[in-house]
Amino acid sequence: MSEASKFLLEDRQIPTAWVNVLPALPEPLDPPLHPGTHQPLTPQDLLPIFPMELIEQEFSPHPLVDIPGEVMDIYRLWRATPLYRARRLERALDTPAHIYYKYEGTSPAGSHKPNTAVPQAYYNKRAGMKRLATETGAGQWGSALSLACKFFGLECTVYMVRVSYDQKPYRRMMMHTWGAQVFASPSEHTHAGRGVLAESPDSPGSLGIAISEAVEDAATHPDTNYSLGSVLNHVMLHQTVIGQEARLQMDLAGESPDVVIGCFGGGSNFGGLALPYVLDRFAGKGPRILAVEPSACPSLTRGVMAYDYGDTAKLTPLIKMYTLGHDFVPPGIHAGGLRYHGASPLLSHLLKLGHIEAKSYSQLPVFEAAIEFARTEGILPAPESSHAIRAAVDEALAAREEGRPRTILFCLSGHGHFDLAAYENYLSGRLQDYEYPGRDLTKSLPAI
Ligand SMILES: Cc1ncc(COP(=O)(O)O)c(C=O)c1O
Repeated sequence: MSEASKFLLEDRQIPTAWVNVLPALPEPLDPPLHPGTHQPLTPQDLLPIFPMELIEQEFSPHPLVDIPGEVMDIYRLWRATPLYRARRLERALDTPAHIYYKYEGTSPAGSHKPNTAVPQAYYNKRAGMKRLATETGAGQWGSALSLACKFFGLECTVYMVRVSYDQKPYRRMMMHTWGAQVFASPSEHTHAGRGVLAESPDSPGSLGIAISEAVEDAATHPDTNYSLGSVLNHVMLHQTVIGQEARLQMDLAGESPDVVIGCFGGGSNFGGLALPYVLDRFAGKGPRILAVEPSACPSLTRGVMAYDYGDTAKLTPLIKMYTLGHDFVPPGIHAGGLRYHGASPLLSHLLKLGHIEAKSYSQLPVFEAAIEFARTEGILPAPESSHAIRAAVDEALAAREEGRPRTILFCLSGHGHFDLAAYENYLSGRLQDYEYPGRDLTKSLPAI
């Protein structure tokens, strides 16, 4: 077995196709429904906000989808991302486990998000769009789309969740540097935003509210489309570059994972790493696959599997997913990118079928693991990604307890260089835990 800590690929080994698990599912997904009629959605229903090529990918029957050359040219700026073996963390934990992490923080925006931002901007440009509107929680997705739009000569409008807008001014400046227009959400620019502000002027915002604003913006401007950074099938598809590379790199390390871990907001970094391994599970031989979410916003572990809206103002299609209710406004935890009431329908389905597991942590133990990681491996992780670190550390400690080795692979989805205020709060003892209050969902879920 190699003694190396870093496993790198050549440019020629970057995947040239995305992996689509839809045709391999043991049971098909329930269709998305039109928000007005509650009938299954047609591709035409989505055309006011998405380009046809992305709509086709959303329902694609093909196991592989070629990555366009123009997208490959941009991927090559930072892909393939490195895979590391966390030998110093292993030693600190005194564990027989081998811990590997796929580091997506080497992209220009600092996370996995450009993997889908770039193709989304590309297909929208080809469809003749002038501008994209989107939401952002932590600011990572907004930065990624601002960059991608700049590469393809598109304008970009970002509705940034109010609490992150205030917590992370430098993310905002990064978006401005790449030429985007950024509004704190809820904003006065949309009907949806004004509605929320009228009821609660001090609203911290949520991804659900910001999505309503961006969808409304796109639907009311013919030259503008909407772009979503997670949840949808085409986003999961684009992110499979992560898992495909990781498999090659684990081969270089001479190991295969017993457990694959990712943090979970809408599911895209987790799905990106895990979906190629899910195909192994369908063949009866895959690893355990573990999604990790905040206990302040526990869609997978405390939500219900039901049809619900993807946004607060009920503008999006109804999708069958694990949800806490579209009107749930999670507490302002620092992992802003994990404050989403719902979840990818594909990954929800796989959880229901038992191919993936989920667990949740509150933010104090997550930051404790982030600090341990920063002090051993050196990288200062994003608060979102630190949920995966916490779970990986606990897997390694369980291996020590049992006295049995296991191979752990997790996605380090981004760096935390713009999250230093959160680190300061933690280090000075001011960070507090929030628990999900629990709620009766019967009133907020649509009757289907
Ligand atoms: C670094 C990072 N990791 C994870 C996430 C969660 O999103 P997803 O579940 O789509 O990967 C975000 C979202 O903003 C993020 O910024």
